[in-house]
This record gives sequence, C-alpha cells and structure tokens, in this order.
Amino acid sequence: MSNQLHLQQFQQQIAESISSNTFLKISLGNYQGNEKELRNVYARRVKIKRADMLSFTYRYKTRDIIKNFPIPEGIALIVHFISNDFKVCTLFTTLKEVILEHGKKQLISVREQLVKTIVQPTLTHNKEKKRIIQPTGKTYLQELKISDADGNVFKNAQDKYRQINQYIEILSSLIKELPANKINNVVDMGSGKGYLTFALYDYLHNVLKLDAKVTGVEYREDLVTLCNGIAGNSGFDKLEFVPGTIEDYTVESIDLLIALHACDTATDDAIYKGIMAKAGLIVVAPCCHKQIRREMEKNKEKNELSFLTKYGIFMERQAEMVTDGIRALILEYCGYKTKVFEFISDAHTPKNVLVVGIKNSDSDQVAKSRELKRTEIKQKIAESKAYFGISYHHLERLLGLDKKV
Ligand SMILES: C[S@@+](CC[C@H](N)C(=O)[O-])C[C@H]1O[C@@H](n2cnc3c(N)ncnc32)[C@H](O)[C@@H]1O
Repeated sequence: MSNQLHLQQFQQQIAESISSNTFLKISLGNYQGNEKELRNVYARRVKIKRADMLSFTYRYKTRDIIKNFPIPEGIALIVHFISNDFKVCTLFTTLKEVILEHGKKQLISVREQLVKTIVQPTLTHNKEKKRIIQPTGKTYLQELKISDADGNVFKNAQDKYRQINQYIEILSSLIKELPANKINNVVDMGSGKGYLTFALYDYLHNVLKLDAKVTGVEYREDLVTLCNGIAGNSGFDKLEFVPGTIEDYTVESIDLLIALHACDTATDDAIYKGIMAKAGLIVVAPCCHKQIRREMEKNKEKNELSFLTKYGIFMERQAEMVTDGIRALILEYCGYKTKVFEFISDAHTPKNVLVVGIKNSDSDQVAKSRELKRTEIKQKIAESKAYFGISYHHLERLLGLDKKV
C-alpha cells in the first residue's frame, strides 16, 4: 500500500474514532524536525466553551506548550506532522491502538493491537492538572481577584492563573541551572500588579524553602502601594515593591532578574541592570519593540527586505526578532548562555517570547575563548545593524558597546 493510502486510512480512523466516541488520544514521537528541544506531541479531546476541540501538548525538554484546534484542523495538523517530522504516531482508542511508523526508505507501515484494559473516553478532559502554585489559602491570589477565600479560581481568572503557573514552571526549571540553587536577591523589573512577583516569592519561599529577598520595581505608585499592602497582608516580609523607574533603580546584588512585558526599551534597561549586577539568571518577556522598529522604518525602502517590511505586520515581527536577536547576542557577549522560546500559547498573547540569559561560570580558559567569540559577536551586531539600517540598539548603547573597539 502506498504512503498516501496509509495516511488517508489513518486520517479516516482518527475521524471515525472521534465520531464514534472511542478516541482517547494521539501521540506523536521520534521527532526529526528542526526544533531542537521538541520531544513529543500529544493530542486529546477537550470541550472549550462548549466547542469540541483537539488539545495539543507540545512537550519540550524543559516545558510544555498547549495549543487547541477545532477537530478538522486538529486532524489535518496530525496528518501534517506524520507526513513531515514525526516518524511514529499512535492512535489510542477504547478498542485498539493503531501505530503508524516510517520505516526504511521512508515507507509507512501501520499495525494495530487490541487493548487489554478498556478506558472510557471523557470529553471533559479539561481536568485541572496539579499546579505548582496551589490556590488554597493564598491571600495574594484572593486580593488580586484570582481566587475566592476557599481557593476556587474565578472563571474569568483561569487564564491568568494558568499563565502564572506556566511562568513559574519555566522559572523553576531555569533556576535549577543556577549553581547550587544560589538565589538570595531577586528583582522583578516593571512588576505592575505583581501577579508574578507574588507567585515567584511564594514558590521560592514555600516550595523551594529559600529565604530570598524579592523586590518589585514599578513606576506607578498606586500599584506599588497596592502590592506592598498585599505583601503585608500575606506575611511576605522579604518582599518589597519600590517606586521608580528601572533606569534609576540602584543595583545592589541580583541573582535572578525578571522583567515581564516591560515596555519597549524598559526591557533593555532591565537586562542592563542584570548584566551590571552579574545576575546568574536574566529572564525577560519583551513587550513592544518600538525603538528598533522606528530605526528600521527610516531605512526600509533601501533594505533588501522591503518587499516584506512594507507590510505593517511583517515589519512588526521583523523588528521584534531583530531587537530580541541582538539582545540575545549582547547577553552572549557579556558571558551569558542564551535561550529564546515561546512560553505561553499565542492564543493568550502574541507577546509570548522569553529571552533567557544564564551566566556562564568563569574560568581563565573560558574567558580566553570568549574573547575570540566576542569579536565575532560584535561583528555580527554591526552587520545586522547595517543590514537593517539601524543606527543603534538601546542595550548596546547602555553598555557602551557601540563605542568599544
Ligand atoms: C505590561 S505591564 C506588566 C506587569 C507585570 N510585569 C506583569 O507581567 O504582570 C508593564 C509594567 O511595567 C511598568 N513599567 C514600564 N516601564 C517601566 C520603567 N521604565 N520603569 C518602571 N516601571 C516600568 C508599567 O508601569 C507596567 O506596570
């Protein structure tokens, strides 16, 4: 049987198992695509706002990303996956398992096996997973209107609660990369209403049992007053919110710096403070990318990419990638290992990219080889600036890298 026919039949089996309500889940494995940290993808059936959907869990080395699709799109996506980068796919139903595999010379084979124990499918698969930040007995979650006094998360706060947990899950795996869990001083730049600051404090103190000092920096004084009140009511005595700008914040010692959606160049200011304080871990989710976008707009006609950047949405995405790409290069220049990845589904917000810097440990040998790399990095930054018609990058300027030879 040809590959095409195998795929068609498999697609039909998925559709039939869904319509006959025998579908349990799909698992896709043996990934051979370009996403370095992607391991597997699982799809299960869920009801979201009364709509029947397929919920995909993309399992990466250090995190999971969930994306939901209407059933027909979901099935098409599964077929796309198995036609391309996933070499094994298993359909689990209440009656049998159907295993599709790419063998030698990319030939597809399909085999079936009957199940030993019958599992009933549930449509309300949306069962609440055990979250790292539990909602019971959390004053800050109540005061931030995420949960009620009994620890029930409000319907309209489910998304926020999930995001907080996803963010803490990501941070928890990054924190493990710090030497011997060394976290004494944590700063959240542009802390806003403090959702993440409180959750991170809670996680560090009550889950990891660390005695870290946590500081939120925020220029809106009303938010600072609100958050300090909640911190007091929660008994979080090593948590403090300070009024003022990130630029003016006096850096003492910082082990972990976070900045989530600090606007435009405020993200650069935050990274700069982290680098100056030699923070072990810097985690930022950039927001708007106006500074570089303005620069790119000025010269877009001359650019080879003008056929793309004449469209506003492409310009926006290009400016985002260039801004964050240069940020990552600068972090590497300053001795950080970097990661850039999506941290929540883009269904929640398009501003869902995390830029992470983990400080390299120092030794003479490493420092020497880094010197070599630094020249290359500076050259790369200069070339990309020239290519996109950018006269300066805010972080580069803060560090004086545009002047250093
Ligand atoms: C979009 S909110 C995000 C708040 C919070 N980090 C979160 O994710 O929930 C950005 C916050 O950063 C603050 N902010 C922006 N630029 C700042 C700066 N340069 N200095 C201090 N705070 C700043 C704003 O007032 C706002 O509260």
